[in-house]
Amino acid sequence: MMNLQEQIINGKGYAILPIENLNNFNKLRDQFIEKMQSLTNEKRLEKMRLVIANMTKSQINELMISLLAFDQASEILIDSCKNIVKSLSGDKIFLQRRATTIFNIPGDNQRRQWPHYELMSGVSPFTFVLWAPFHDLDDKGGIFYIDLNNSYEMIKEEHKSGIVNGPIILNKDYNEKPAKLKYGEVIVFCPFVLHGNVNFKSDQARIACSARFQSIKKPLLQKNSDFFKFHQI
Ligand SMILES: [Fe+2]
Repeated sequence: MMNLQEQIINGKGYAILPIENLNNFNKLRDQFIEKMQSLTNEKRLEKMRLVIANMTKSQINELMISLLAFDQASEILIDSCKNIVKSLSGDKIFLQRRATTIFNIPGDNQRRQWPHYELMSGVSPFTFVLWAPFHDLDDKGGIFYIDLNNSYEMIKEEHKSGIVNGPIILNKDYNEKPAKLKYGEVIVFCPFVLHGNVNFKSDQARIACSARFQSIKKPLLQKNSDFFKFHQI
């Protein structure tokens, strides 16, 4: 796991790893499925993904808002990956209070998730992200990740023009291949790694969840206790 820290902080900036406690993660997925039943009128994840693929933006917003009440989700996700988290941030962490649920909708006319790095949202440079899908990513879609060196080059180029999150990063055509995660895998990455969604063709929406964390020994900077809570691994 020392290698992991090296890879995330000084190497590629991200790693795809098996979830350590899959039983725990299965429970997390099952709880999400249970909570999505009433708004999708379906009981099985595969069917829900078909329904969600055809939802309007406001229906998806409604679904996401309903999931905000599930405030144990980030703890369950982090506790499914204890060694990964510990090797990066120790066992006392600031953990994102509410896990982020990600719904990616297929089709060309869907707004892309613009390329960005997590630092843009005001998390500290010491924050890491865990991102795990609730099913195999088996279509052509996915999230692409740009390795750390190339991400830094882009950030520096943008910085020269005095802009943050401007057209240089947002409009560039990235030819990166999306990461093909299987159910039971997690991607962990540092806040400087550029990433974004690509348009994809499928009948089904993609559903994933993510959580951010950092060591309590590191400064929080812009984010505060509205966003993070203390968590002991
Ligand atoms: Fe992101």
